[in-house]
Amino acid sequence: MIAVSDTGPGIPQEALPYVFEPFFTTRTSGTGLGLATCYGIVKQSGGHLSVYSELGRGSTFKIYLPRTEEVAPQSETKAPSPGPGRGGRVLLVEDEAPVREVIDKALSRHGYVVHAVGAAEEALEVATGNADFQLLVTDVVLPGMGGRALSERLTQRYPNLRVLFISGYTENAIVHGGVLDPGIHFLQKPFVPADLLNAVRRILDEARTTNH
Ligand SMILES: Nc1ncnc2c1ncn2[C@@H]1O[C@H](COP(=O)(O)OP(=O)(O)OP(=O)(O)O)[C@@H](O)[C@H]1O
Ligand SMILES: [Mg+2]
Repeated sequence: MIAVSDTGPGIPQEALPYVFEPFFTTRTSGTGLGLATCYGIVKQSGGHLSVYSELGRGSTFKIYLPRTEEVAPQSETKAPSPGPGRGGRVLLVEDEAPVREVIDKALSRHGYVVHAVGAAEEALEVATGNADFQLLVTDVVLPGMGGRALSERLTQRYPNLRVLFISGYTENAIVHGGVLDPGIHFLQKPFVPADLLNAVRRILDEARTTNH
């Protein structure tokens, strides 16, 4: 069992039955997907989730997960080696610094030249007058301008730029919630470096055959 508690404002009794529902939010900038995503992950794992809250005192979420005797699986996919000149220039936008660093390192180690920033606005600045990025890797939900708006602005300017969206939300939630269009490249966090490298390789290889 994992319990997470806070000393925040608490959740009103009448809102409690709805907090795990997709798109239920009381925040002006909330998507209402946070707890729905937690719920989905825990249920898929055969677990159980509960919430206890007192107004003005805080909230406690409890996650119960079944025990397993299984050995943790190794990632099946081996990271493809880029080979000489096979990397590319990547613009990375991720607001969570530890996540940003992991992605930056994974890509840099495999022959990509990465420019990593923490906000869409910063990415726009970096990209201004800089047409040599092949790929934008961007978080979907960012403070300020979101990943989708950023990708639209950049691909308008640089039509050959490819985009890989990453998010803690599921593709299902994001696409059906209308946040992203179907047919986009999407990778759900958390992912292992090999998954990221495979996705990036695939997108850039595909781009090589279609771009002039
Ligand atoms: N720790 C908490 N303390 C008080 N209220 C909470 C807490 N967690 C969730 N809630 C309530 O439940 C609602 C739904 O939470 P949920 O995390 O699904 O969405 P959100 O926080 O509004 O948006 P986001 O998708 O950005 O996380 C919140 O809008 C808020 O009203
Ligand atoms: Mg939330």
